[in-house]
Amino acid sequence: MNFNIASISGDGIGPEIVREAKKVLDVVAKKYNHTFNYTEVLMGGCSIDAHGEPLTKEALETAKASDAVLLGAVGGTVGVDKWYDLAPNLRPEAGLLAIRKGLGLFANLRPSFLYDELKSACPLKESVADAGFDMMIVRELTGGLYFGDRKTETVDGVVTATDTLKYDENEIRRIAIKGFEIAMKRRKKITSVDKANVLDTSRLWNKVIAEVAKDYPEVVVENMLVDNCAMQLVKNPAQFDVILTENMFGDILSDEASMVTGSIGMLSSASLGATKLGLYEPSHGAAPDIAGQDIANPIATILSAAMMLRYSFDLDKEADAVEAAIKQVLKEDYRTVDIMTEGMKQVKCSEMGDLICERIA
Ligand code: IPM
Ligand code: MG
Repeated sequence: MNFNIASISGDGIGPEIVREAKKVLDVVAKKYNHTFNYTEVLMGGCSIDAHGEPLTKEALETAKASDAVLLGAVGGTVGVDKWYDLAPNLRPEAGLLAIRKGLGLFANLRPSFLYDELKSACPLKESVADAGFDMMIVRELTGGLYFGDRKTETVDGVVTATDTLKYDENEIRRIAIKGFEIAMKRRKKITSVDKANVLDTSRLWNKVIAEVAKDYPEVVVENMLVDNCAMQLVKNPAQFDVILTENMFGDILSDEASMVTGSIGMLSSASLGATKLGLYEPSHGAAPDIAGQDIANPIATILSAAMMLRYSFDLDKEADAVEAAIKQVLKEDYRTVDIMTEGMKQVKCSEMGDLICERIA
């Protein structure tokens, strides 16, 4: 089959990790007789440098016209990079928010599981790591604090900044349905994460979740406060199947969930909407501190490419082959520096990509 992929390398380590993901996709194409056509699209800091804005209208149109978007990462070092002083809607990250919103990608899936081979890289104590875990974070992606009105103004001589947290019931319902559909294909448990002891948006969230739950009687639903969830993730991650939550909570909890897998370099993500078009990116950022050194871990991006095969292209066999190749490479003790432990064989980003390519059956 023939698929058109908008490819966004972005900033920092973005070009290095996207290169490896494409290498893997090209091997898949050859082995399974598909054609992947890539259109390069600028987004983030590189787009600001070239066009003065983080995502041009043309770039968004290219993404819209494709079958899927593969993304590395955008942004620099917050606080010190050359884009920091720009208005919020002109910074690199604004490009990411604009493409998520522009493509209607309201559901962000972030799977977090512990490979047997990486148990020694897990920062949790042995008894917790030994129990293993396998969860899917389903994060609302186009609402909440990220997209509410914001401003900085001087009120009575005092500089005052405001961000707005807003959700309507329809936004909550559609992500809830996505979460329940995913839970039905897994272990049928949802932990809905909120701050209902303080926030109105969380109370509405819980009400809508309870309504949607009636259509999925097989799914066990529990509500958990976000601060408790942060604690439970390091205390007993095995308890979670699907974590369903709003945008900001999901951003924070998914970083935590990734770190307990051993490295944030292992966590992939898929952003989906109402159609087959999805955006696939690692959950981590652009890591400018290690850019250009060929030491980044490309696995999260390659796993994201596997999610693209599965969710946007319905190529399950091919996605399985990529995931199996990653597992095999880990089994053979190859590690990038972020997941390196004693006795393992340390490899560079590009070597990791090659090793995975060679093991695609
Ligand atoms: C993520 C990132 C982004 C987010 C940033 C770069 C805007 O942290 O994808 O988790 O907060 O959504
Ligand atoms: Mg994040």
